[in-house]
Amino acid sequence: MQHISSSTIEEVSQRTDIVSLVGEYVRLEKRGSNYWGCCPFHAEKTPSFSVTPEKKMCYCFGCHKGGSAINFIMEVEKISFVEAVKFLAKKNGVEIIYDGKAPTTKEMAEQEARNRLKDDLLDLYKRIAATYRYFLTSTEQGRFAREYLASRGVSEEIAEEFGLGYAPADRRWLKNFLSSKNYSQEFLASSGLFSQKYPDIAFFSERLMFPICNSRGQVIAFGGRILRDNGPKYLNSSEMPQYKKGETLYAFHLAKNEIRQQKSVILCEGYMDVIAYHQAGIKYAVAPLGTALTEDQIRILRPFADTFYLSFDGDSAGQAATYRAIMLCRKAGVSVKIVQINESFRNLPPDAAKPKDPADVLLNFGAETLTKIVNQSKLDADYLLFMLAEKYPVNTPEGKSKAALDFFPYIDALQSEIQKESCFELLCRTFSLDQKAVRSDFNRRNAVNQRNTAETQTEDSSKTNPINYKKNAELRAMLAVAANVQYFVKIRSIIQPDDFEDAGAREIFFILEECFREEAASYDVILAKCSSDKLRKLISEAVSSNEFAEDAERIIGDGIARIKRNSLERRRDHLANKIRQCNGTTLEDLQLLKSMQYEKMTIDNELKAQKDIPNE
Ligand code: CTP
Ligand code: MN
Repeated sequence: MQHISSSTIEEVSQRTDIVSLVGEYVRLEKRGSNYWGCCPFHAEKTPSFSVTPEKKMCYCFGCHKGGSAINFIMEVEKISFVEAVKFLAKKNGVEIIYDGKAPTTKEMAEQEARNRLKDDLLDLYKRIAATYRYFLTSTEQGRFAREYLASRGVSEEIAEEFGLGYAPADRRWLKNFLSSKNYSQEFLASSGLFSQKYPDIAFFSERLMFPICNSRGQVIAFGGRILRDNGPKYLNSSEMPQYKKGETLYAFHLAKNEIRQQKSVILCEGYMDVIAYHQAGIKYAVAPLGTALTEDQIRILRPFADTFYLSFDGDSAGQAATYRAIMLCRKAGVSVKIVQINESFRNLPPDAAKPKDPADVLLNFGAETLTKIVNQSKLDADYLLFMLAEKYPVNTPEGKSKAALDFFPYIDALQSEIQKESCFELLCRTFSLDQKAVRSDFNRRNAVNQRNTAETQTEDSSKTNPINYKKNAELRAMLAVAANVQYFVKIRSIIQPDDFEDAGAREIFFILEECFREEAASYDVILAKCSSDKLRKLISEAVSSNEFAEDAERIIGDGIARIKRNSLERRRDHLANKIRQCNGTTLEDLQLLKSMQYEKMTIDNELKAQKDIPNE
């Protein structure tokens, strides 16, 4: 098993903004230097969940859950430590380095260079997005695109909100513009904004530009829609260090709040559909980027939304995408509804132009109609059964059995037994099937499947570490140090691990010593090193409660002095005992006695000197 290096955890910690991270799950309010919200881990009406940005910690004083960003993600996403680190690393563009192969200076330099490149790219993309925006709104060249947007019914506010722009027709313009701004040729060539073959030729030209942002709203890529008939309908940025298609959702940064509030998200096909939904006031719509919905994208949305509305086209490609998405979402344990646009217009006269996507609906029928269609969305099970009834002759035994077989994978994907059960019933009711027969078919099929997939699930037996956690003076002192790590440098010159009686206090000392040596002392690292949940909670509480914030120096000074004194006293008593027992006859014994007496005397002096310093 590989171990994630402390330097990686430190880097993840440094790059994580705990307030916005927690803010993705909890509504926070600032009070003093901390933020407060209702705990996501237990039901409550008055906030007892605090976030301390300065320490990058969060903690619930009600249920005692929380800790560092990593602990928070583990708890809220129900994932393991390693997964949580990966989750945050991905989110913040940190590369994971495992222990054992410590990064060489060269690797570290490379890593740094990569991070710098990423930051530079973000700056560049921001600048370009603003430039495209300027072309769209304020130039003669942009007129056609402006008029096109107007003809599609896109309002100016929405265009502004989405940062829509226009890439000028002159394909050399961008290079000239940027060259005058002191970017290196090399950097520009790798920026994704130019043709691979001809580094002077802009990749996007004469297109309506859709900036694609990460969840923080930073522009990381572009989609460009054609305006005249001269090429593919859309061009999209390729994957880049800052842009991974499968982990990005178009307009997520704009939709996030509403998704959280509605506990729902609408997934649609593309840029124009998302924009249409938002303009209709349905602001919890996002889209995967020209690809099928991925598990990563579901994982990004799952903490906010219980219900995923799928709003893909009604054509066969759209249906296939819908089926795939249903299965993925159900496996992730979220509810699914299907927005059916063609169904909603089934009764239009045959010669009437039928809207095919949300943008069409908004343009031709208005926001209310679009809202109504969303509200009439079908549950995925109903939708699937409806589709099966179209696909098979379900009034024949043959057709029934085929339809049932097709439905089984869906039942499998459901995450709750109750849901499985009720879907069985629904299936049988819909096609007038005998429950017993269907069930036996289903079980037989699953028995076969199971034999084919050998299950090897290893349970990580959680370590139990009996530590005496009574809040004694030693522990209190070390908790105060843990809450104020800057004092540790001094303390490690005064105290050794042997000085502690309390196992918890000693463990904190060990942890801080390790952090000191690794030069990684964020709470993400500190808490990761704790051997038990109990210790983790004690530290989290000590940090979040500000218990040791006021008087840290005195509390720590006193505590450490006491630990040192107790330790010296123990050693002195031990020596005194030995000396008493010593009936030295051999030369060796006498030498030992002498050295013990000398040590005892030194300790006595040290203790006396300490007593002369007033503390308490
Ligand atoms: N797409 C793409 N490349 C294409 C066509 C489509 O990347 N050649 C992606 C885009 O992300 C697009 C989505 O697939 O937004 C859906 O395609 P489509 O429905 O054709 O485009 P819309 O965005 O709906 O644009 P419009 O309404 O103008 O047709
Ligand atoms: Mn479309």
